[in-house]
Amino acid sequence: MKPKILMIGPLMALVQEALAQDFDLLRYWEADDKDALLAAEGAKIKGIATDGHLGASRALMDRLPNLEIIVCQGVGYDAIDLEAARAHGIAVTNTPEVLSNAVAELTLGMMIGLCRRIPQCDQYVRKGHWLKAHYPLTAELTGAQVGILGLGRIGKEIAARCSAFKMQISYHGRTQQADQPYRYYSDLVAMARDVDWLVVIAPGSAETQGLVSREVLEALGPKGCLVNVARGSLVDETALVALLTSGKLGGAALDVFAQEPKVPEALFGLDNVLLLPHVGSATVQTRRAMGQLVIDNLAAHFAGRPLLTPVA
Ligand code: NAP
Ligand code: 8YV
Repeated sequence: MKPKILMIGPLMALVQEALAQDFDLLRYWEADDKDALLAAEGAKIKGIATDGHLGASRALMDRLPNLEIIVCQGVGYDAIDLEAARAHGIAVTNTPEVLSNAVAELTLGMMIGLCRRIPQCDQYVRKGHWLKAHYPLTAELTGAQVGILGLGRIGKEIAARCSAFKMQISYHGRTQQADQPYRYYSDLVAMARDVDWLVVIAPGSAETQGLVSREVLEALGPKGCLVNVARGSLVDETALVALLTSGKLGGAALDVFAQEPKVPEALFGLDNVLLLPHVGSATVQTRRAMGQLVIDNLAAHFAGRPLLTPVA
């Protein structure tokens, strides 16, 4: 008998098709009565397939007494209750590395987009304003200081690209990385004070909640720009909106928000922000690689082989 897998939301077709071949795939999001589905099938479900947004709660795990594994299509697993998974002896996997290039590439795109005002320039041409006057002068990345909060897998790819753009690079994390050529700050506020750009790419967790506080944003100041490609939970969003609106923070390029897909409407009218709908890894190439890791981790688990990318 094929093991039952509960897919929480519609992962990409590649994953759905592959899992439907090898497993008895239950599509949770399609069930009108989710409670009835769990009551009827809960004891038979061996795996959960989810992503970084949908996650898996303790309440759900409690309904699945024979759950063995949760596979997450995403590197960030903050939406999965890891403590509950550990308590129940449930393995968890994610999709590290394969998305680092896509996220880093978009980060630099956001930075250029914000400082060169690319969306506004595009509108300028489309609306015929160029026929009347040249677009105003903007800023550039060359020679600017960038501070990276979280010099991990993605952070290092961002640093490499910033280096190619001739930026001065520093980073903050809990530990100094002796093998890295960049300046280390043990104090995030001090780094924010010294840089023109603060790029946030550390994981969402209880520890990082609100790490980019009002104090950090004020230190970044009226000429500084925030880029958040990590999780909305790391930033004090109320302070961010207030400082952007009052001109006490220079600008922000945001791919992630505190209450996705809700974005504070106060940001919509601002010229000094660039807003994206959490698309850091959302390319066909990268999502295929992430999907394949989801498939391969599940296959490994049920074949008794070591997991490819277990969450430690
Ligand atoms: P990673 O390799 O684990 O790197 C995380 C970095 O964050 C490490 O350098 C770590 O350094 C630092 N860090 C962890 N806790 C910290 C803390 N409390 N204070 C300061 N720094 C801390 O992770 P990754 O693969 O680069 O991914 C990072 C995150 O990006 C993911 O967790 C996810 O939330 C987000 N992400 C977003 C998108 C998107 O679509 N926008 C896509 C992919 C990933 P230390 O250990 O030295 O502190
Ligand atoms: C995805 C992400 O948007 O990997 C992450 O942590 O935030 C993104 O790659 C998300 O996991 C949905 O698949």
